[in-house]
Amino acid sequence: MVNLNEQEHANRLYWDELVDVHQNAEAFSDYRVQKFLKGECILDPLVRAEIGDVAGLSILHTQCHFGLDTLSLARLGATVTGLDFSPNGIATARRLSSESGVPATFVEGRVEDARELVSGQFDMIFTTWGAIGWLADLEPWAANIGRFLKPGGVFYMLEGHPLALSLQDSEPGDHSIPPIIYDYFNRAEPFVMDTSSDYADPNAKLKNTRTYEWAHGMGEIVTLLCKNNMVIEFLHEHPVLTWKAFDVMEQVDEYFYRAPDHWPTIPLSFSIRAQKAG
Ligand SMILES: C[S@@+](CC[C@H](N)C(=O)[O-])C[C@H]1O[C@@H](n2cnc3c(N)ncnc32)[C@H](O)[C@@H]1O
Repeated sequence: MVNLNEQEHANRLYWDELVDVHQNAEAFSDYRVQKFLKGECILDPLVRAEIGDVAGLSILHTQCHFGLDTLSLARLGATVTGLDFSPNGIATARRLSSESGVPATFVEGRVEDARELVSGQFDMIFTTWGAIGWLADLEPWAANIGRFLKPGGVFYMLEGHPLALSLQDSEPGDHSIPPIIYDYFNRAEPFVMDTSSDYADPNAKLKNTRTYEWAHGMGEIVTLLCKNNMVIEFLHEHPVLTWKAFDVMEQVDEYFYRAPDHWPTIPLSFSIRAQKAG
C-alpha cells in the first residue's frame, strides 16, 4: 500500500464518504444505482455517442468512483477494469458487480501508481466527469495512458471545461454572469475547498469537508497526451454539464444542465478522443 500525502489522504476520506452519499442520491443526480440494478446502461448519451461500439473491447476505467460507469461499459459487452483510490468506492463497485451479475475487475489504488497495480494493455482507456482535477500532476497520468494502451488503442475523456471551472460558484438567486476567480493554469499549490455540501445531493451534510484540487488547462492536457504518443482524433467543447454547477443553470433533460441564454456562449465541458500511434 502506498503512503498518501496529507492532501491525498484528505481527498480519499472525502471520496469514501461521498460513495455512501452518491449511492443514495438517485433522486437528484446522475448516480442511477436502481436503474443500473434493473438492467440499464446508465452512461449519458454524450458518452455513448462518442465512445461508439465497445463490445469486445478491453477497457481500463481510471477514477471509477463506485463503478456504475465501469459496470455499464461491461453491460455494453466490454471487459472492464476499474481503478480508484477509495476503498469504499472499490468495495461498493465489487458489491454492485456481484448483485447485478455484471462482471468487472476492480483495483484499489492511485491512478499515478497504475504501473504497480494493473497488468497488460487495453483497447481503451476511459475517464469522465470530475476526475483529473483531483490529480496534482498530470505527467504520470498521461504516461500511464501511453503505457496501458495497445498500439491503435483509444483514449477517451469527458470533463468539466477548465474555463467553466475557473468561474465563481453562484449564490442561489444570483443571475449575474460569474467572474473568473479560480486559476485556469495549473500551479503546484492546490485550491483548498472546505464545504459540507455535495454537488450531487443538496441534502447531504459531509463530515470530511476539506479537499485539495488542481486546475489543468486545455493546452496542458492536449500537449501531455501528444507527448505520450497519442494522436488526437477530436477535441469537442460542449455547452452542457451533468451537474448544476451554477444556480442559474437550466435543466436540458434527464442528464444535462446548460447556462441560461443571457450568458455569452462558453464551453462547460470538453471531450477528447485520441488513438495511440502504432
Ligand atoms: C468525480 S469522481 C469520478 C466519477 C466518475 N465520473 C464515475 O462515476 O465514474 C472522482 C474519483 O476520483 C477518485 N480519485 C481521486 N484522486 C485519485 C487518485 N489519485 N487515484 C485514483 N483515484 C482518485 C475519487 O476516489 C473519485 O472516485
